Amino acid sequence: MVRPNRHRRAAVVLALLAGIFAPIAHAQATAQEFRNGVVVAVSRPGAEVGLAILRRGGNAVDAAVATAFALAVTHPAAGNIGGGGFMVIHPPGGKPTVVEYRETAPAAAHKTMYVNDDRALGHRIVGVPGTVRGLALAHQKFGKLPWKEVVLPAVDLAQNGFVLDQHEAASLNGVVAASKDFPEFCRVFGKSDGSRWKPGERLMQPDLAKTLRVLAEQGPDAFYSGIIADQIVAEMKAGGGLITKQDLAGYQAKLREPIHGVYRGYDIYAPPPPSSGGIVLVQMLNILENFDLAKQPRFAPETLHLMAEAMRRAYCDRARYLGDPAFTAIPNHLTTKSYAQKLAASIDLTRATPSADLAKDIVLADEGESTTHFSVIDKDGLAVANTYTLEHSYGSRVVVRGAGFLLNNEMMDFNRRPGVTDRQGTIGTDPNLIAPGKRMLSSQTPTIVAKNGKVVLVTGSPGGRTIINTVLGVVVNVIDYRMPLQDAVAAPRLHHQWFPDELRLENAKAQAATVQALVRLGHRVVPATKQGDAHSIWVNWQTGGFVAAADQRLSGHAAGY
Ligand code: DON
Repeated sequence: MVRPNRHRRAAVVLALLAGIFAPIAHAQATAQEFRNGVVVAVSRPGAEVGLAILRRGGNAVDAAVATAFALAVTHPAAGNIGGGGFMVIHPPGGKPTVVEYRETAPAAAHKTMYVNDDRALGHRIVGVPGTVRGLALAHQKFGKLPWKEVVLPAVDLAQNGFVLDQHEAASLNGVVAASKDFPEFCRVFGKSDGSRWKPGERLMQPDLAKTLRVLAEQGPDAFYSGIIADQIVAEMKAGGGLITKQDLAGYQAKLREPIHGVYRGYDIYAPPPPSSGGIVLVQMLNILENFDLAKQPRFAPETLHLMAEAMRRAYCDRARYLGDPAFTAIPNHLTTKSYAQKLAASIDLTRATPSADLAKDIVLADEGESTTHFSVIDKDGLAVANTYTLEHSYGSRVVVRGAGFLLNNEMMDFNRRPGVTDRQGTIGTDPNLIAPGKRMLSSQTPTIVAKNGKVVLVTGSPGGRTIINTVLGVVVNVIDYRMPLQDAVAAPRLHHQWFPDELRLENAKAQAATVQALVRLGHRVVPATKQGDAHSIWVNWQTGGFVAAADQRLSGHAAGY
């Protein structure tokens, strides 16, 4: 057993000696540095829309809203108007806020509705979308430019098309081939002659252009009680879905206080429930603060072991306690330093703790594959971290007929089998059971790290439950290991989610000795191909510049000036 207090004292002394409490300042070899603002996102045309808004005098929130609408056109796997997400906003010197626009269960939903029908696609798995209300709320509270001006660039991309890159072409070809049960999907996203998309070709979305124009001209109410609402409800009726006019009219996005933690002197801001991201991230960081991570290399087995043990413990609490705060009481102790000290003391440095020893009665289910994160900062230092999703890649595959946009399959994120738990991945705990109007638990973790009110790092990722661990890795790489941002983003990633009791490691082949050492400690190590897609910004306090790193695991682009 370790004695974390001793570690902690040693860590504090070493940290002071090493100047860790000073803002991180390190050279950037490869990432681009911009003076006036930058948007870094999965799609080049999406990021460029945000940049154009910044150049026109819009602030980071205007740019984020414009980018979010643009990605609904240029990155249809996850960019959306038919899904939901979380936006963290950090005004310069001011109080950070979260715009929460998570989907809700329709009024007709009930606890056991998926017990005998657990299809991941189609109309019954759609949650009430939150994106349009969320973007409108962010814009209303923080935006500078007129609403229409931030929505119109997306209309143009849908109307006139945009050029597919290698990644988007391959993604569309794959999904169209697998979606024969969804003819409207194939009509909208396939080629009219049935051939395959090639990079360099143009995808045009005239129905979506019409919808976005209505939103630009009439505002968000068109989606929730106007003509678009009518189209959604007609689609639901035609396909046996549950969403009604009342569900749409009653949907509200919310302003929430972020979860705030302090990690080695840096402020961490990330979303509160209904995302698990903020609580789990801060809990893991608090545990790790009890150890002097930087005294050993980043990829030493000892480091990975400590990170995996922190992950295992925090994800166990995620399953036990977290859900929509309007329906379930969230305990206060999860993000306290004293609780983290107790958990740190329970870590054996010489042996992996079997996950089953932490709680014998609860197990986790798997989540989907596509979400997208982008980061924005403007010349005044206003920063935005936005993650939003349709849950799976291309969501439910239901395209609202005549309206050209995809609906989510976010109901997948509820615990869909009450009381049924097994080690393979079903969870039946109460906090995240389905109820009418309830928000399903998320792992989305758009995160802003700051010091003395000034932004240091903006990050976040897709990846279902791996999201929180991807963010943890980036934060540790930057704060503990002082890696240049591009390296911090590129470094191999690690994931443990309590159950299944295994440690997933990117680039495991190249780290054979480390893997062997982890196995000797009692970990089951599973090689992972790719984890996440963390488009991030680091503020260089020495130059005042904004360093942007587009994660290269998918395709990514930093558009700045
Ligand atoms: O909200 C969530 O946590 C999930 N619906 C996110 C799904 C996801 O990230 C899939 N991505 N790659």
